[in-house]
Amino acid sequence: MESTATQDVMQESTGDLILRLAELNDIGIALSQEKNIDRLLEAILIAAMRITHADGGTLYRRPAGSKDTLNFEIVRTDSLKLALGGTTGAKITFEPIQLRTPEGRENTSMVAAYAVLKDRTVAVADAYREEGFDFSGTKAFDQRTGYRSQSFLTVPMKNHEGDIIGVLQLINAKDRVTGRIGPFSATDQRLAESLASQAAVALTNRLLIQQLENLFESFVKLINQAIDDKSAYTGGHCYRVPVLTMLLAEAVDQSQAGPLAGWHMTDKDRYELRIAALLHDCGKVTTPVHVVDKATKLQTIHDRIELVDARFEIVKRDAEIRSLRARAGVSEDEAVKIDEDFLQRVRDIEADRRFLRACNVGGETMKTTDRERVQAISKKYRWKTAHGEESDLLTADEIENLTIYSGTLTAAERRVINHHIEVTIKMLEALPWPRHLQHVPEFAGGHHERMDGKGYPRGLTRDQMSVQARIMASRISSRP
Ligand SMILES: [Fe+2]
Repeated sequence: MESTATQDVMQESTGDLILRLAELNDIGIALSQEKNIDRLLEAILIAAMRITHADGGTLYRRPAGSKDTLNFEIVRTDSLKLALGGTTGAKITFEPIQLRTPEGRENTSMVAAYAVLKDRTVAVADAYREEGFDFSGTKAFDQRTGYRSQSFLTVPMKNHEGDIIGVLQLINAKDRVTGRIGPFSATDQRLAESLASQAAVALTNRLLIQQLENLFESFVKLINQAIDDKSAYTGGHCYRVPVLTMLLAEAVDQSQAGPLAGWHMTDKDRYELRIAALLHDCGKVTTPVHVVDKATKLQTIHDRIELVDARFEIVKRDAEIRSLRARAGVSEDEAVKIDEDFLQRVRDIEADRRFLRACNVGGETMKTTDRERVQAISKKYRWKTAHGEESDLLTADEIENLTIYSGTLTAAERRVINHHIEVTIKMLEALPWPRHLQHVPEFAGGHHERMDGKGYPRGLTRDQMSVQARIMASRISSRP
């Protein structure tokens, strides 16, 4: 049942053989360039059918992680106009072929399983006369469709690492002149084996590239998750930026008018920009959590407004003690006056306390009069520390924080936040980017620049930035 005769090859006309070899060469080049796995699998089977003049064929793959099954990936029969799997969208419902029986023995009765288990090409001249293999599935298919499966050429697909990753099965070799079905020749076998080997290498390489890309993107997401988890206030930022960046970039790509009408992206450009957008804030891994996550002006590791509250409470009790002491031995009228003064003092304390609490919540901008009032309140109340020292209500640092003009960050904290872009650039420029991703540091590193040169850290102007960096910068504006 196995064809080994080199003589057959010699008998074929040399001219025809050269043509078929040239075709095989072209197929090899085409396979190495195909990036989509489904299209690649389909191309492998179609090429094998063409080069061996087969009417039908099946491509099986061993799924990753399972060494004991063969899945139907692509099924085609030209004369039945049958095309399943791959890019056709037609699902294959055939059960996978098991390489082992439930008892654990090798399932050598199925020809595709045999080819894998024995690492051997199997040529069958007529399935209906073949004794050694179980062709009941084929016969059932024939009965359903009226087809007559006759000759089979079953070739294991072994990659450069010596792993059999699938099986190429060709069905019904057609005579090139008469179209009559006959057995596959030894030349067909050699060509199919050569093609299967090239296809296995192309497929393995493509899968490796895909796995590495998946791993790389998962790693990028891991960094973003770590950054986004630092703060509930900016959480999700690292995921929103790529989405908005790509929407803007697609809009520019489609624009028909204006200065960017001629600007377009290839799929490679899109991937490079998306990676840059995903990594734009990677430097934030070094930004302290209490700055990234600073929700109020006085918040440090904890919100110091609670300390201010406690001091107000001390001031209030001091006032109460003073008033109670003053009441001792005074007339009724004087006592009423002391009580009124005390109540007024408490009202003042409460109002100032509420005011400071309101100031603590960062807003768009803070009025000059409000900033002056914070200073005045600090001087208005004196309180005694645990060491018996009299002190203003607020420390200089608390005043600086409570009088932040806009938002919740002081100038020093803003510098810490802004530092993330310098870290981002440093980190990204240190990575050994492959050629198709070499612009990632420039795209990502420009996201806080501005068209007018007033951005940071480099103060670039629009002419000094790529369109992609400008898209990212316009998306992010002045936000972190
Ligand atoms: Fe940023």
